[in-house]
Amino acid sequence: MDLLEKIKTKQAVVGIIGLGYVGLPLVLRFGELGFRVLGFDTDPSKVEHLNRGESYIEHIPSSRLAALLTPREGAGQFAATHDPGRLGEPDVLIVCVPTPLTAKREPDLRFVEQTTRQIAACLRPGQLVSLESTTYPGTTAELLLPILGDRLRVGEDFYLVFSPEREDPGNPSFQVNTIPKVVGGVTPACLAHGVALYSQVIDRVIPVSSTQAAEMSKLLENIYRAVNIALVNELKMLCLRMGVDIFEVIEASRPSPSGSRPFIPVRAWGAIASPSTRFT
Ligand SMILES: NC(=O)c1ccc[n+]([C@@H]2O[C@H](COP(=O)([O-])OP(=O)(O)OC[C@H]3O[C@@H](n4cnc5c(N)ncnc54)[C@H](O)[C@@H]3O)[C@@H](O)[C@H]2O)c1
Repeated sequence: MDLLEKIKTKQAVVGIIGLGYVGLPLVLRFGELGFRVLGFDTDPSKVEHLNRGESYIEHIPSSRLAALLTPREGAGQFAATHDPGRLGEPDVLIVCVPTPLTAKREPDLRFVEQTTRQIAACLRPGQLVSLESTTYPGTTAELLLPILGDRLRVGEDFYLVFSPEREDPGNPSFQVNTIPKVVGGVTPACLAHGVALYSQVIDRVIPVSSTQAAEMSKLLENIYRAVNIALVNELKMLCLRMGVDIFEVIEASRPSPSGSRPFIPVRAWGAIASPSTRFT
């Protein structure tokens, strides 16, 4: 059975690498929809917690994890491991490892590169690799592809996509499945496999023409948010000095023909909120 068929029949085993705020909701989504999921994390205590059915993320109830540890009809089975030697087992590998900034505020791709090398050591024909970590445009084609494409041919032997994670942890208005998923592939066959995978678990999948376009779309979203948080912060300080109520101003400009969306500062002086204060 080829990979597309395995995905469509939910027989593909899904590997999630990095079981944090992004990876764990994906474990639940794929598992609850019937996929068998193997989670990878370098932190042994997280692996132990998960294999006992214990969540370490506030808004993720342990009961949902525990339910995936024992086989049930209609649901997949989940197990966690810290053994990168098992990366050859899943048919799909979704990379959700951290991408912090260095002290010089440059992207630190240590974790992504380490994970990619571990995948490359086990990569076999028929696997799909999807990078979800937030990163700069060009990462998938310039960093991952040369490492993964060393032995096998991309688009023929294995498939490589970038699909930015847009999770907003704890936001009750959005669930994993209701956040539209952008996917870009290195080749058309890669894109087709990426779209097939995410269409199984996400309500709306948005294919784009390249991994670079997908990477740039995430950057645009984050820059939009950062710029608007900074803007409302500055305006709040200006309004305070002018004796103008910033909240009245925001409300007044809310029905906007330009389609702009309100960013709301918190009422206490100092901290600033927006739809989200996390730059992720
Ligand atoms: N948290 C968010 O709201 C959010 C939203 C959108 C995008 N993102 C992006 O998603 C990525 C993951 O973010 P997160 O918040 O889930 O991070 P996190 O720190 O909560 O989780 C990352 C996990 O990866 C593990 N890890 C590190 N190196 C590993 C390796 N080589 N192999 C296996 N596991 C490894 C860590 O132990 C940790 O458990 C980042 O690029 C982040 O920018 C995060």
